[in-house]
Amino acid sequence: MYLLIPAAGSGRRMGSAWQSQGKAPRNKLLLQLQGKPLIAWTLLAAEASQSIRWIGMIGQPDDWEDFKQIIASLSLTKSVQFIRGGATRQESVYHGLQALPADAEQVLIHDGARCLATPDLFDRCSQASLTCLGFVAAVPVKDTIKVVDAHGVVESTPDRRQLWAAQTPQGFSVPLLKKCHAAGRSQGWEVTDDAALFEKCGLPVQIVEGEETNLKVTTPMDLAIADFILRQREG
Ligand code: C5P
Repeated sequence: MYLLIPAAGSGRRMGSAWQSQGKAPRNKLLLQLQGKPLIAWTLLAAEASQSIRWIGMIGQPDDWEDFKQIIASLSLTKSVQFIRGGATRQESVYHGLQALPADAEQVLIHDGARCLATPDLFDRCSQASLTCLGFVAAVPVKDTIKVVDAHGVVESTPDRRQLWAAQTPQGFSVPLLKKCHAAGRSQGWEVTDDAALFEKCGLPVQIVEGEETNLKVTTPMDLAIADFILRQREG
């Protein structure tokens, strides 16, 4: 299985986390978590997965030197290719798709910021790609969700039994996802995950049971929670 890791964001909401690590703000994936940069945990899970054979790491050139050092320090056995990131996640994945080897029929896309995904989740997703053209790891929502208008007034309360929180990995047929991304670019669609492009093109997206601990590290609070989860796992 081919894996693309979007890792080209900046992490603007992590200012105070950098302050507490005594460094100037940079890509949040370089923040330390249990003695390793955050992205190292993502890479170690991909390395431990039985199904992943090739990793495309989508990053900004400013971060490549750090990423290279991290990869060297982990002694990864899998091949990692660097791919230039774009201005948005959507554009970064678009670049990633263009850089896939010609024989890639299916791809998993997994946010670098979801550093607690387990090797088992990667492998279950790879298994799903045998039967689904598109799928997304997701968990049922626990909160009641409100749809709110521009004035802060609740418009509606969707039935919670139908709501799932989307995670990554997400997996797709490569030729179909390339077409969906091309459609997105020509139509000016702006989306926050790849499944949304598949949906907009009228293609089916299957749910694969995700993991409650597979949080996207976005704020300093998420970093503290990730630290706690890793300590529990290690200990
Ligand atoms: O910002 P957010 O955490 O939602 O980003 C999700 C993932 O997309 C992160 O792993 C981030 O590095 C990546 N990203 C990217 N290119 C961008 C913006 C975000 O690869 N331009």
